[in-house]
Amino acid sequence: MPEEFSQTHHALLAELSEQFSASALLTGDAVPARNAHDTSFLPPVVPLAVLRPDTPEAVARAVEICARHGVPVVPQGGLTGLAGGAHPIEGCVAISLDRLNGVEEIDPAASTMTVRAGTPLETIQNAAADAGFYIPLDLGARGSCQIGGNLGTNAGGNRVIRYGMAREMVLGLEYVLPDGTLVSGLNKMIKNNAGFDLKQLFLGSEGTLGIITRAVLRLQPQPGCVNAALCGVGSYDDVVALLAAARKGLGPMLSAFEVMWPDYWHEATVTVSGTPNPLAGEHAFYVLVEAQGLDEEIDGPRFMSWIEGQFEAGRIEDAAISQSMQDVADFWLTRDAAGEFQTVLGPHCAYDIGLPVASMDDFANACRARLKEAMPEALSVYYGHIGDGNLHIVALDRARATPPMDEISGIVYDTVRAFGGTVSAEHGIGLLKKPYLPYTRSAEELALMGRLKAALDPNGILNPGKVIDFPGRRSHT
Ligand code: LAC
Ligand code: ZN
Repeated sequence: MPEEFSQTHHALLAELSEQFSASALLTGDAVPARNAHDTSFLPPVVPLAVLRPDTPEAVARAVEICARHGVPVVPQGGLTGLAGGAHPIEGCVAISLDRLNGVEEIDPAASTMTVRAGTPLETIQNAAADAGFYIPLDLGARGSCQIGGNLGTNAGGNRVIRYGMAREMVLGLEYVLPDGTLVSGLNKMIKNNAGFDLKQLFLGSEGTLGIITRAVLRLQPQPGCVNAALCGVGSYDDVVALLAAARKGLGPMLSAFEVMWPDYWHEATVTVSGTPNPLAGEHAFYVLVEAQGLDEEIDGPRFMSWIEGQFEAGRIEDAAISQSMQDVADFWLTRDAAGEFQTVLGPHCAYDIGLPVASMDDFANACRARLKEAMPEALSVYYGHIGDGNLHIVALDRARATPPMDEISGIVYDTVRAFGGTVSAEHGIGLLKKPYLPYTRSAEELALMGRLKAALDPNGILNPGKVIDFPGRRSHT
């Protein structure tokens, strides 16, 4: 890049190096390879610099300087995103939140935890548990994803059916606007109706409107007991009936309802080595039901009797029922095996579509057939948080080392549109899904998103080209 190095970049880097130490400002060969991509399989783009501020004020200063020089900024967390939201764009400065890290406070009376954006989710989960509380946000990337990214994408994960998505766990938020203004709204109160609920603009907008620096999270009581069953189910109608029965029979204890189609089950338990498979036979569907209760002596037998009822009603063909927390963890390995697909299946397309629950299997059959028709060697597997109306698809063409992403996405999203679904239920839009956003959002909704972006970021500084095309003065895509 040196010969292209513009005066703007020289001036920017000169000012940044006055303001930031060598450990906080990485340029040239010091830019780590990991910051050149996220988990979207997009070709790597080396940022002009990686900034690693360790205070909210330093994030604000960094953004203010970049904005003044007109250089775009891409916020980065754990880089586990699948949609390209944290993927660098040409000529950007990546602001990595990894040094803005740690739990600042746990307030037992308010049941809140104040965290810095770069804290890994698992660190937050463990800190809550150490204090006798529970953070229900959980997803496969828990060890490497960071809370700032979780909130920036309004992450979903495994326990949405009971606790809602990430935004529902946030009471207060602090963020940096595209002009470098630090807005601190670290509210701890559940009820605060004083004017606009501004934090909602920044939760789920994927770093296009602001960079989240700190958050006040709502803590839950630790579950007194957890019971789970892995069920073999004979038809999709029975899956839907089992979900309704779980909602009714387990009530608020129901904490997960994950469904795996046989093609997924095969890859998860055979191709991914070492995944325990507690079910001997083959079934049309595999369902992981989890219930978090208060008291094992009461809720353990209650769970067991609910399962027995499902056998008697013919909704379950077979089930492995947890006898210990280790069993519960082992059952989850069948779901977390999806995290290994990148290694065992190689480059693939990953989807997080949303659909009405009743039409998921018809959708899966239609999508699989359309992919096979276009690519005889197509492999597509189906699984997900069916209780939340959220289906995952992993797809590739075994005949090609690099998946034809546009072709596969075209087929998947056309089918989603035909079934009246959403192109993203939990991972966000980023770069990969931007062309398909109009499948799910009306022209008026898109125009309003554009007006909000233009109002907050008229010069297109923050994560430009992500989520929506920027209607303002500059375009970086
Ligand atoms: C999952 C991630 C991919 O549910 O959202 O496995
Ligand atoms: Zn998911």
